[in-house]
Amino acid sequence: MLDRIILEFDRALRAVAGVHQAVRPSPAEEIPSTELAEAEREHAAALMRVNHVGEVCAQALYQGQSLTARNAENRSALERAAREEEDHLAWSAGRIRELGGRPSLLNPLWYAGSLAIGALAGALGDRWSLAFLAETERQVEEHLSGHLQSLPGSDARTRAVVEAMRADEARHRSAAIQLGAAQLPAPARAAMRLASKVMTTVAYRL
Ligand SMILES: [Fe+2]
Ligand SMILES: [Fe+2]
Repeated sequence: MLDRIILEFDRALRAVAGVHQAVRPSPAEEIPSTELAEAEREHAAALMRVNHVGEVCAQALYQGQSLTARNAENRSALERAAREEEDHLAWSAGRIRELGGRPSLLNPLWYAGSLAIGALAGALGDRWSLAFLAETERQVEEHLSGHLQSLPGSDARTRAVVEAMRADEARHRSAAIQLGAAQLPAPARAAMRLASKVMTTVAYRL
């Protein structure tokens, strides 16, 4: 148990501090970089900051849920997805750096809030916590699709990262559904949408 606590605490610190090693190389690596106008570069960096915050939240949500998941099979599926979210965290942080931006100043706050929500969802039981997860992944997919529309067409490196993340999130969503996620009631989905609107609006700036 103590080992587990130390491991999770270490994971939390790394998520907040932004020190992550990706297992898979960044999809941006094989794409040649292009010249971007100043405003385009700033916009892309701000969108990647939003995505990076989303990934900090994903770390905390998965962590909160795997701490409370009752079923061992579910727990290992959650841990597998969380591992891929670590790649996303490293990829988006790397791309922010390349674009000359900076991660959100509020990362510790985003992390703490999401950890609490994840633990709460986990405490409701596996069916509901998986439902929450599937809906989160679905909303992230939507966001990433929106970013692909908004990103400069010439920013192929950022686009490659966002596309790869979106493909992973789609798999995470179907995995959660296959493990037996319930269907979330509409008010819960709306509340999540509102919370993510607040997060994305603030993170675009801070
Ligand atoms: Fe992700
Ligand atoms: Fe995901």
